Amino acid sequence: MKKLYAVLGDPIGHSMSPIMHNDLFEHYKIDAHYLPFHIKNENLEDAVKGLKALGVGGFNITVPHKSAIIPFLDVVDELALNLGAVNTVVNDGGKFIGYNTDGHGFLRGLNAYMPTLDGKKVLILGAGGAARGLYFTLALERPMVIDIANRTLEKASSLIEACPYSIASNAFTLEEAGRRLVEYDLIIQTTTIGMSPRIAELPVNVTNLKKNAVVCDIIYNPLETLFLQEAKLKGASIQNGIDMFVYQGALAFEKWTGIFPDIERMKNNVLQQLGGKTC
Ligand code: ATR
Repeated sequence: MKKLYAVLGDPIGHSMSPIMHNDLFEHYKIDAHYLPFHIKNENLEDAVKGLKALGVGGFNITVPHKSAIIPFLDVVDELALNLGAVNTVVNDGGKFIGYNTDGHGFLRGLNAYMPTLDGKKVLILGAGGAARGLYFTLALERPMVIDIANRTLEKASSLIEACPYSIASNAFTLEEAGRRLVEYDLIIQTTTIGMSPRIAELPVNVTNLKKNAVVCDIIYNPLETLFLQEAKLKGASIQNGIDMFVYQGALAFEKWTGIFPDIERMKNNVLQQLGGKTC
């Protein structure tokens, strides 16, 4: 019998996950189908109960339900619990187990550009939900330092205080981080600056960028933010948000099926979906 997989969100119409996962199910000849469900917050608990009654194989959760889902799950993995956010649920013999594959998705994508974080100095721009996921996951890899820069300095400080893993960190304003940019081997841009339609803005000036730095932006619309374009001109290796999106999906697919899927196939699928939609 066909297995059902799903993604719950609000809004959900633009999710690229259904086409990406359905292509993989077909490619690997797995008798399953992945559907998007537009779920309002007040219906989330009922939706989860419904998915359990239907015996789904698993599902993803996206904005704004990544935290709200937690009380409705049977087990939540330690990292996801510390993050306070779940993006992937596996139905393990009737028990719903929650994971967060966002941070590890980012790490897997980063691997091609920076195989180890040993001795590296990392700067995260932004202190919202995405920054939190990446900060905690990267802290587990024990780089030399992970600094956080944010428009609102207190939010960067609170994020550092909230980290349950031992890591050297300092909080800076975006201006201060811009002045110190030369210190960092890896810079990860998680703010909404540069995202369509605000494509002409920069979170920090790249004048002081270190030679050979790796610069990542979790944005994929546009595919190359102004920040990435300018970093590239300064000689940095750049990575956009496609890798993180694709790898978080690949890790979810692996949890559901035991198969680590073809990343290039997934990237092409996502790029095709973005065709005409970027900018
Ligand atoms: P997400 O969950 O995607 O990380 P979020 O939690 O709303 O989204 O976080 C958005 C981030 O972008 C925050 O770091 C925010 O900075 P503040 O904490 O100061 O609000 C940052 N951000 C959004 N718009 C910004 C702007 N115009 N200038 C600087 N930072 C901005």
